[in-house]
Amino acid sequence: MNTDADFEIFIVTAPGLESVLCAEVQAKGFREPTPVKGGVTVKGGWPEVWRANLELRGATRVLARIAAFRAFHLAQLDKRARRVAWADILRADVPVRVEASCKGSRIYHAGAAAQRIERAIREELGAPVSAEAEVVIKARIDDDLCTISVDTSGDSLHKRNHKEAVNKAPMRETLASLFLRQCGYEGTEPVVDPMCGSGTFVIEAAEIAAGLHPGRSRRFAFEQLATFDEAAWQGLRATGGGPRPAIHFYGSDRDAGAIGMSRANAERAGIADLTEFRQHAVSDLAAPEGPPGLVIVNPPYGARIGDKKQLYPLYHALGQTLLAGFAGWRVGVVTNDDSLAKATGLPFAPSPLSVSNGGLRVSLYTTAPLP
Ligand SMILES: C[S@@+](CC[C@H](N)C(=O)[O-])C[C@H]1O[C@@H](n2cnc3c(N)ncnc32)[C@H](O)[C@@H]1O
Repeated sequence: MNTDADFEIFIVTAPGLESVLCAEVQAKGFREPTPVKGGVTVKGGWPEVWRANLELRGATRVLARIAAFRAFHLAQLDKRARRVAWADILRADVPVRVEASCKGSRIYHAGAAAQRIERAIREELGAPVSAEAEVVIKARIDDDLCTISVDTSGDSLHKRNHKEAVNKAPMRETLASLFLRQCGYEGTEPVVDPMCGSGTFVIEAAEIAAGLHPGRSRRFAFEQLATFDEAAWQGLRATGGGPRPAIHFYGSDRDAGAIGMSRANAERAGIADLTEFRQHAVSDLAAPEGPPGLVIVNPPYGARIGDKKQLYPLYHALGQTLLAGFAGWRVGVVTNDDSLAKATGLPFAPSPLSVSNGGLRVSLYTTAPLP
């Protein structure tokens, strides 16, 4: 592989969010963004890989496609895997492991395929293979075509490394940011979450408004690759954060522990000055002074916490509070049940956005500005 040349970069997201992620990828200036099943592809080199990991709020992980070849049987896989220019990508002193998957191919044993590629790397490059390795090569054998990628992210990108405290059912930061985007949030209006839990929506919204990079405080697997350029990376990292916005971001929850967590998480994220967290029930919620903006909330779900029937009054109270006091505000409600969404009495647009979130289907219901 010529490391100066462009290659395909595959940016993974939760199924259902491909087009929303694609809009973010496009807005952040990546080349040739194309939504595909489970993610978005772009063209670029290593600097774009680093930037995708650093800047994209909706990405779960970033894979760099480094090789592709046909392999009809294991001996052929072995031979062709040895010809990959591993030394251009991997370091001989950094442990590596291979994950393989096979679909519709003559090679059907994923474990045997992974073992062949691991052996090729060990013998051709000299890198140690370890089940605990941070650097992961992903081999997908689809229709006898073996595509080899390196996972450049490491830990899932929803781990921004600011949140130590989490409540019962926290929303992933990646999902929260794409829901904010789907609600038309661009960082220029106030945001209210009246059941904020650990504060995910409020903190994501404040970070977006402050122009902070989501990956500014964490490490990435690409730092362990032969292609890594520390000076260029530090230059890129330094680009985030503009002037502090005048708007504020508000979270409330009836649970005192949740409010404590939200405040601690906002502090760690460096946006505590932009956020206000208060302990009270949703029925005591009032709109903050100033221009209207977005209310976004994920109330308790039927399947996860408590019984669905007991939740109707809570959803009803949420809707009534917003209809009575939030004229001009748009609303986004994330839930797993159509009847719970309906119980709010809010005028939702048809066709909510449906997403698979850790095995659970959740949907985002949105309104226009309330009358
Ligand atoms: C699914 S969790 C929200 C998770 C949150 N989005 C996060 O990322 O951590 C629902 C939250 O609603 C809160 N809640 C339940 N009933 C409430 C009520 N009547 N008023 C205010 N908050 C309530 C719970 O304490 C819980 O924190």
